[in-house]
Amino acid sequence: MSKKIITLVAAGLLLSGIVYAKFDNPGGIGGLESLRGITEIEDTRPADEMKKYPKEQVLGSDYIYQPPLIPHSIRNYEVSLNANKCLSCHSWKNAEEMKATKISVTHFVNREDAVLADVSPRRYFCLQCHVPQASAEALVENEFKRVDSLR
Ligand code: HEC
Ligand code: HEC
Repeated sequence: MSKKIITLVAAGLLLSGIVYAKFDNPGGIGGLESLRGITEIEDTRPADEMKKYPKEQVLGSDYIYQPPLIPHSIRNYEVSLNANKCLSCHSWKNAEEMKATKISVTHFVNREDAVLADVSPRRYFCLQCHVPQASAEALVENEFKRVDSLR
């Protein structure tokens, strides 16, 4: 065996030792570590506290063309093949009556850049891009700063 292979094997053994030590769980079937903490596979982790959705403050954008954050709760709002609750307030037809912001024209453009008569399929699932603003801690440390032109 060449030195390289021996080093690799040694490193592998060491790593598996570390992983094993972390999840040393006699009788169990191991654990899983994620940003939410360590959970044994066979356990159900208690749910996190419900997040608060502060209504009184509408957070501004951090960069150009950012999908605005949703400044209200969206609990039980169905968005599926059969129904789109968001559009019952945000469509051009309903927005005025519901005092909601109209979806902008970009929501009618398909990927060939044609402007359609109704919401483009690629903008139908609102939550792909828009998320509710919540009082949540950042999961990972970061140094993201708002772009200068919006400061
Ligand atoms: C019952 C009506 C209603 C429904 C349903 C609703 N919204 Fe809203 N939404 C509003 C109103 C009214 C506002 C204006 C801000 C406010 O008063 O909360 C708003 C604001 C927003 C904004 C911020 C717009 C901006 O210019 O900053 C976004 C984004 C948004 N909603 C997305 C959604 C999405 C996505 C859904 C579906 C999951 C949804 N809304 C469902 C009424 C509604
Ligand atoms: C592919 C991403 C994407 C999807 C899907 C999407 N949006 Fe947006 N939305 C954006 C972006 C980006 C903006 C900001 C730029 C703009 O106005 O186009 C925006 C802006 C908005 C605004 C503010 C418009 C304004 O004039 O200030 C509202 C309200 C909104 N979206 C609602 C919705 C609703 C309701 C849906 C679902 C029917 C939806 N969006 C789906 C990306 C998306």
